[in-house]
Amino acid sequence: MCGIFGCILKDQNAAPVIHTALKRLEYRGYDSVGEATVHDGKLYIKKDQGKIDEVHLTRNLDDLPGNLGIGHTRWATHGAPLEVNAHPHSDCSGQIAVAHNGIVENFAELKAELENRGHVFRSKTDTEVIVHLIEDVLKNNPALSLTEAVLESARKLDGSYSIAVISAKEPDKIVCARKESPLVIGIGENAIYCASDIPAFLPLTNKAVIVDDGELVAISLKGWEIRKISDGAPVTREIKVIDWAPEMAVKQGYPHFMLKEIHEQPTCLRNTLRLQEHYLDLMSTFLDRAREVFLIACGTSYHACLGASYMFSKLAFLATYPVIASEFIEQHGKSVSVDSAILAVSQSGETADTLASVNAARQRAATILGLTNVIGSTLTRVSRVYIGQQSGPEIGVAATKTFTSQLSVLAELALRLAKKRGKVSQDEMDYLADKLKRLPDIVETIIRTQEAKIRELAKKYKDAKTFFFLGRGISTATAYEGRLKLMEIAYVPAIAFPAGESKHGPISLVEQGFPVIFICPKDETHKTLIGNIMEMKARGASIITIVEEDDEEVKRLSDDYVEIPKGVPDVLSPIPFVIPLQLFAYYMAVERGHNPDMPRNLAKSVTVK
Ligand code: G6P
Repeated sequence: MCGIFGCILKDQNAAPVIHTALKRLEYRGYDSVGEATVHDGKLYIKKDQGKIDEVHLTRNLDDLPGNLGIGHTRWATHGAPLEVNAHPHSDCSGQIAVAHNGIVENFAELKAELENRGHVFRSKTDTEVIVHLIEDVLKNNPALSLTEAVLESARKLDGSYSIAVISAKEPDKIVCARKESPLVIGIGENAIYCASDIPAFLPLTNKAVIVDDGELVAISLKGWEIRKISDGAPVTREIKVIDWAPEMAVKQGYPHFMLKEIHEQPTCLRNTLRLQEHYLDLMSTFLDRAREVFLIACGTSYHACLGASYMFSKLAFLATYPVIASEFIEQHGKSVSVDSAILAVSQSGETADTLASVNAARQRAATILGLTNVIGSTLTRVSRVYIGQQSGPEIGVAATKTFTSQLSVLAELALRLAKKRGKVSQDEMDYLADKLKRLPDIVETIIRTQEAKIRELAKKYKDAKTFFFLGRGISTATAYEGRLKLMEIAYVPAIAFPAGESKHGPISLVEQGFPVIFICPKDETHKTLIGNIMEMKARGASIITIVEEDDEEVKRLSDDYVEIPKGVPDVLSPIPFVIPLQLFAYYMAVERGHNPDMPRNLAKSVTVK
């Protein structure tokens, strides 16, 4: 969690640049914001609790002096979201400042030691130990440079961190380091940047240097120097040219990023279909060889894994285990072996629980395969083979376009595996490949023809206290995802489960007018699902269905329905069927007066366990 940014500019004040970059990082957390700059041998800090715009209104984030500085937008872990806990944090002398993303696990021990040596702490954060540690190292050895002091301090930190450090005594550099939290360097004309992710500096430069885990990098207008934290050894790294257009990272006229990203799905799906065959082939070879396959992820990515488990089973006749990453080690850790394959799915490639599972599996010599949207992320570096899903940056905290892209890649993978295992005929393969190719158009049609109706539905149901989301077969994954979207951005408590489970408990909640959303593709589960609709209807539920356009039977049973073009094969159905649920959640949030791009208490990238 948290976003960090730093910049050194040749002839320009750093503060306004930091301010706008932090806006681009706000999706990573928005409990507090702060900036620190160095000017004329002095350190200046401004910070406060609240969102960036609120803080800027009262404190003016643009008027700090100096051409070098760091900034931070926070998602609180240690210490309440208060001004005193906002980053950057400074040392006792007020000369060094640090912005940090991650968690220092041994901060209590370090803090006790440092307090014993006379350091005075102001905040309740784990971060503050870092800056006192650096100060302490320099006090004991004043001849050391800031780089050497950060190097030595970083070696004492357990846990995860991505840090940017500045000092009034070395006013020409920013020293950064990372372990298990993301960090990238941007190389501009007469400017250099460090940030938690590429979109933070993308409008300023498209040249990036990716910092690896366990590395420190000192940046100045003269260049950058990367070293290994463990032994200080120098590292060389190429500059990467990022081909994301900067306008991909702004709202392009939509009121919210989430709506923009929902509308981008046809394009994203087309991009996803341009994947390099070679990687799909390679990955399916590893999946085929494995004795067992675990599909590991969190949140929306987990729902993609759940959907994928039906795809692998139905197409390639391969049983896989979809597992929520935070449970993986406890549930399956001991059974993982050299014969296991782990397919980790993570939009950001940085989710701490997913990476922890991957690391545990690596230690047991399992094969790690990755699917992610962020090339250069930790997941890409620890995977034997990885696929980049090519969705472009997703800014809305609620995942939308990255979910459908993940499903599309996983369907392609399942098809490739089916071919390898000789489980589907060439005719069936061609048929499915053709249907997959048509999905972007189908998604476009759904958005074009159904959005206005869904907006009306949101108006109608905006005051509902709760919802059920039900499906059978692969639509269970769609139901879970629809429910997550509604809960996370519209704050409506909702329950999703396979429709067959209703009679084992949940149906007792149903009374007159209780809204139940059914996901009803015309697949093998259709008849049984109609039985489940009848059960709910008999108890007075309001039935809302996502149906195929020619499904008159279900339409007759529905109080409200949204139509999907007919003829999508069951294994691909979550991609079109989730679209109305994304739009419904979006308009419910808007109707209820919430900002869908910034759901409270959530963050886009969860880099703590
Ligand atoms: C957070 C986000 C979710 C996301 C989940 C997993 O909770 O708010 O939208 O699905 O993390 O993220 P990942 O980057 O691993 O897919």
